[in-house]
Amino acid sequence: MRDKVCVITGSNNGFALVAAHRLSAMGAKVVMICRSRERGQAAQRQIAERCANEPELFIADLELQSEVRRVASEVAAAHPKIDVLVNNAGFAFGKRELTREGFERTFALNYLAYFTLCRALRPQLRAAGGARIVNTASSAHRQNPLRLDNLQGEIEFGERLFPPLPKMYGWSNVCRIMLTLELAERYAADGITANCFCPGLVMVERAGATAAQNLMVKLMPRFLLPKTRTPEEAAETIVYLASAQDAAALTGAYFESGQRVRAAEQCYDGEVRRQLWARTEQLLDGAQA
Ligand SMILES: NC(=O)c1ccc[n+]([C@@H]2O[C@H](COP(=O)([O-])OP(=O)(O)OC[C@H]3O[C@@H](n4cnc5c(N)ncnc54)[C@H](OP(=O)(O)O)[C@@H]3O)[C@@H](O)[C@H]2O)c1
Repeated sequence: MRDKVCVITGSNNGFALVAAHRLSAMGAKVVMICRSRERGQAAQRQIAERCANEPELFIADLELQSEVRRVASEVAAAHPKIDVLVNNAGFAFGKRELTREGFERTFALNYLAYFTLCRALRPQLRAAGGARIVNTASSAHRQNPLRLDNLQGEIEFGERLFPPLPKMYGWSNVCRIMLTLELAERYAADGITANCFCPGLVMVERAGATAAQNLMVKLMPRFLLPKTRTPEEAAETIVYLASAQDAAALTGAYFESGQRVRAAEQCYDGEVRRQLWARTEQLLDGAQA
């Protein structure tokens, strides 16, 4: 991975931070896109101290399309070639709220930001030759078939107290997987691959979570959640998809807890995927007009 440019969003915490560290240790030039300069710099220092290969840091609130476009142009100006793009920043918002640009927050952060970064950085990915897109998603997509008339939870949001994963979070993950499968087809001619994965259940304290949620993460006894995975285990899939020689030609694949599996059947419906893509372009282009 020496000198390969690997852009990773939301890489100041959890398993993406571990992946950023591992790829840096392999010699890659990691480019972190983080929301908070303070948390980003702390992560940057931590990686530099451990492997003497300091990542670059860019700051953006990826809930906002204007910020996604701005940071994409900054990264593109700094790196004419990008070998790996890992879209990872995400969150499960508890209730329906809109950004100041008018998009529902889960849809904006978990999906629209991925879409726009891929689209904006496509020339740099193409220029690298054999670039790889890796999208974090979630098995929460399984219980929640997507409705094209409810993309932003306009009709139903599906709030849930426990576990605190609204249906909206599941739908945003259907979108992430559908996007990945579309990218695998649409960007193939550019030599770009696209794969996605669910890390499994990784108990992490999150800056965006409430104090009660973070306390629960700390105190939750492991025997109650035997299937939890460590950030180190979860990071392995990112590192594999981003760097392994035998993953170079892999595209359109979905992994769950480290195993390649089939996603929910709806994700393979090409007609729904194409409609989602067209609807997304309309929403984004309409917002910019
Ligand atoms: N952990 C799990 O069990 C699990 C399971 C399935 C899927 N996932 C997915 O894994 C990804 C990582 O999440 P995580 O739950 O493991 O928590 P995490 O370690 O806290 O990672 C989330 C990252 O996204 C960043 N982020 C959040 N909002 C942002 C914004 N508006 N702009 C820019 N960056 C933002 C966070 O930055 P801050 O530190 O500033 O908040 C953080 O770096 C998410 O996409 C999530 O959907 C997680």
